[in-house]
Amino acid sequence: MANIEKTEALLLELTNRTPESGKYWKEAKDLVPGGLMSGARKMQPYPVYVDRAKGPHIWDIDGNRYIDCICSFGVHVVGHSAEPILKALHEQAEKGMTFAAPHTQEIEFTKRFIDAVPCAEMAMVSNTGTEAVLLAWRLMRAATGKQKIAKFEGCYHGWHDFAQWSVFADPDNMGPADRPNTVPGSAGLPESTRDNLVMLPMNESAFDLIEEHAHELAGVAIEPIIGGGMLPVDKAFLEKLREVTKKHNILLHFDEVITGFRVALGGCQELTGVLPDIATYGKICGGGLPIGAIGCSKELVAIAQETDDGFSAAGTFSGNPLTLATGAAMLQHLKDNRHIYDDMMAKGNVLRDGFNEHCKSKGYPFCMTGIGSLFQIHAKAELPKVPRDLHGQDEEALSELQLHFRLNNILLPWMHLAFFGASHTQADLDEMLRVFKASVDAVMSDVPVQCDTQVA
Ligand SMILES: Cc1ncc(COP(=O)(O)O)c(C=O)c1O
Repeated sequence: MANIEKTEALLLELTNRTPESGKYWKEAKDLVPGGLMSGARKMQPYPVYVDRAKGPHIWDIDGNRYIDCICSFGVHVVGHSAEPILKALHEQAEKGMTFAAPHTQEIEFTKRFIDAVPCAEMAMVSNTGTEAVLLAWRLMRAATGKQKIAKFEGCYHGWHDFAQWSVFADPDNMGPADRPNTVPGSAGLPESTRDNLVMLPMNESAFDLIEEHAHELAGVAIEPIIGGGMLPVDKAFLEKLREVTKKHNILLHFDEVITGFRVALGGCQELTGVLPDIATYGKICGGGLPIGAIGCSKELVAIAQETDDGFSAAGTFSGNPLTLATGAAMLQHLKDNRHIYDDMMAKGNVLRDGFNEHCKSKGYPFCMTGIGSLFQIHAKAELPKVPRDLHGQDEEALSELQLHFRLNNILLPWMHLAFFGASHTQADLDEMLRVFKASVDAVMSDVPVQCDTQVA
């Protein structure tokens, strides 16, 4: 497994390949807290700085070309800068970038969004997935007159104060398996936001807790595929959640910021047939520009608006014409090319099966979870199913793996789920599988991985 000398040799090789990135990294650490504009962009020995990207590829400022498995954390489901999106961007930029007044792209985008999202009769648009969840939870409180939201341990719903609790199950303070603690995911979260949450375990005890708190719950939020660990939730569990929430007049919220327009055009709702009362989106539906969006029924909006204070939300850039032009072009492109979802599903299955069979046949403690174009590698012999199964991984082995991937020109997010898209060809997928297998071989056997020094 990983040893210090081997890891240091890999880090040195990466440093030698990326001197320009190294220079920027030195400056960044003095300018930005932790050197990063978003904590999730961490890499060792430091992040590569991106020069440009096209289709499935990304180039760093030292000229190294990688197969991109970050895809801007899931935004680029058809690859970087697809032609129909660029066309829409240029046409709209010529006409104006933001007006803070109504424009026709609002209608073009919303019609396509509602057409694709099974639970949506109406939509509201914001600038990020985090804001979309804020909006959804406010709407849920307004419509029910109740204060609390129940969320599941291990689910991420953005970085805002109401949601960044128990995003990971930390063995040191997570509490009992049937009643998880509500643990802050950052310093600075107000204690009062903890009081607005009921933390649910990803097991049958969740239903007891929902019943116990039914009188004060506005809604229950879940990622139908848990992004942290790439753990699909069983359809039967989602069905039961639908049943229990309906029985107690609690709203059900699916957070489809990652899964929306990715696992199917209609996201997890299309895959499972389970319809929530409200769903949140982001990433893909902006076509590459920042977006958040919610979809729900007309009835839900009407009830929220009828409250004494009325329901209101705002945002200078919400629904700006540039984002909605690229977003509408993306949604149209996906609708016209629906076959990409079957194709990505098949390619993802081959990738996961190939990797898992390789690890199993060699007795390696590694495996890959996920669905379709979403995947994550774990230092575990058995496939994890729920967030608490993710404990006890060999972090050093996972870090070393990541270094091998980058030395072989594949860029993955650090210790995070990874992505591919419709522009990744079968040859790209074959290369990913070759490198993933060779990299676990290298981590397990001390044999240096074959480096494919490809500078374009
Ligand atoms: C499920 C889920 N919800 C919400 C968010 C927050 O979205 P954003 O990063 O656009 O604020 C994310 C981000 O990855 C997410 O995965």
